[in-house]
Amino acid sequence: MNSPQNDERIPSMSFFSTCTADVIAQAAKALKDGHLVAFPTETVYGLGADATNNEAVARIYSVKGRPADHPLIVHISSMEDMGEWASDIPEYAIKLAREFWPGPMTLIFKRSELAKDFITGGQETVGVRVPQHPIALALLEEFKKLGGKGVAAPSANRFGAVSPTTAEAVEEELSNYLSEQDLILDGGPSQVGVESTIVDCTSKKPRILRLGATTNAMVAAITGLSFSESDRTEEIRVPGSLVSHYSPKAKVELDVIPQPGDGLIAMAAVDTPHGVIRLASPINIEDFARELYGALRKADRLGLTGVAIVQPTGEGLAEVIRDRVTRASA
Ligand code: TXA
Ligand code: MG
Repeated sequence: MNSPQNDERIPSMSFFSTCTADVIAQAAKALKDGHLVAFPTETVYGLGADATNNEAVARIYSVKGRPADHPLIVHISSMEDMGEWASDIPEYAIKLAREFWPGPMTLIFKRSELAKDFITGGQETVGVRVPQHPIALALLEEFKKLGGKGVAAPSANRFGAVSPTTAEAVEEELSNYLSEQDLILDGGPSQVGVESTIVDCTSKKPRILRLGATTNAMVAAITGLSFSESDRTEEIRVPGSLVSHYSPKAKVELDVIPQPGDGLIAMAAVDTPHGVIRLASPINIEDFARELYGALRKADRLGLTGVAIVQPTGEGLAEVIRDRVTRASA
C-alpha cells in the first residue's frame, strides 16, 4: 500500500472507464477481499469498503485523512436490507424509503448489532442509503451475492475537500493514496452533483441533518409531519455540517464583484466582467448543482486564488447550493 506520508507516491490502483458485468464482479470481489472501490452515485462519487470489515473501513479513514470518530453511510441495494443495519424504524421512515429510494437520501436510525463503532463513529445511530446510479446498484447487488451486507462509502475526497462528481476527479484526489488492488469505477458525471439529504429518523418526527436534493418540502409532503426540533441533550455529530467543508484551495467569496484573474460561478444570465475566468454558467438550478463542484475543482486546477459565486435564489435545490457554497467560503 502506498503510504500517504511517502512523497514519491506512485498511482497504482486500477481505473475502469467501461464498467462491464465482469468489471462489476471484479469490483464486488475486491470489496469482499477487503479492498477499496471508488464508485459513481447520482449525488457524488463514493469511496467504498465492506461495512463489516474493520480493517477495510480503517483504510477509508487513512485514504481520506478523515478523523476516526466521523460516521460513515452504509449503502445497500434495496430497502428490504435496512433492517439488517437499523432497529426501531418508524413508519414515516418506511414511507420515505418507499418514495425516495433509490435516490439522494440517507436515513439515520438506531443501529443494529451489525453496525459496529467503526461505522457509526462510536454513536448509537447508523446512516443507510440506497443510491440510484445503475453502476452503484449493480455493484451492491453483486456484493450481496457474495454474502456482503453493505458498503460503507463517504464521498471520495480528502477530508474537508470538494466532493468528486467524476471518476477523473476521484483519481486526481485519491490516486496517490490508493493501492494496487483498489479500483475506481467510471460511471460518468454524477447527475445530482451534491451529497444526499440526511434525515434523522430516531425521533417521532423527522429532522433534516444535511440539506440535499430530496428537499425539506418533499420530506414533509410524504411524511405529513412537521420537522422535529432538536430535543436531544447529546447532539448528533454530522461532520458534513462543519462550518468549513467542501472547500477548494482558492478563496471563495459570495455575491461579490470578481476581480480580473478571479473565477466566477453564476447562472448564465449573469455577465462575466472583463478579465474574469468563467468557471460555470448553468442555465437552471439542476445544472448549477451538477456543475458546482467541478467548477470549484477547475479553479484549483487553474491555480486561481479567488472565486466569486453568485448565489442562486429560491427554495429547494437553491437552498442546498447556498448551504454548500457558504461552507466552501468559510
Ligand atoms: O451523497 C452522499 O451521501 C455521498 C454518497 C457517496 O453516498 N456520501 C457522503 O458521505 O456524502 P460522507 O461521509 O462524505 O458524508 C456523510 C455524512 C457525514 O457528515 C456523516 O457525519 C453523516 O453523513 N453521517 C453518517 N452516519 C451518520 C450517523 N449515524 N449520524 C449522523 N450523521 C451521520
Ligand atoms: Mg464528504
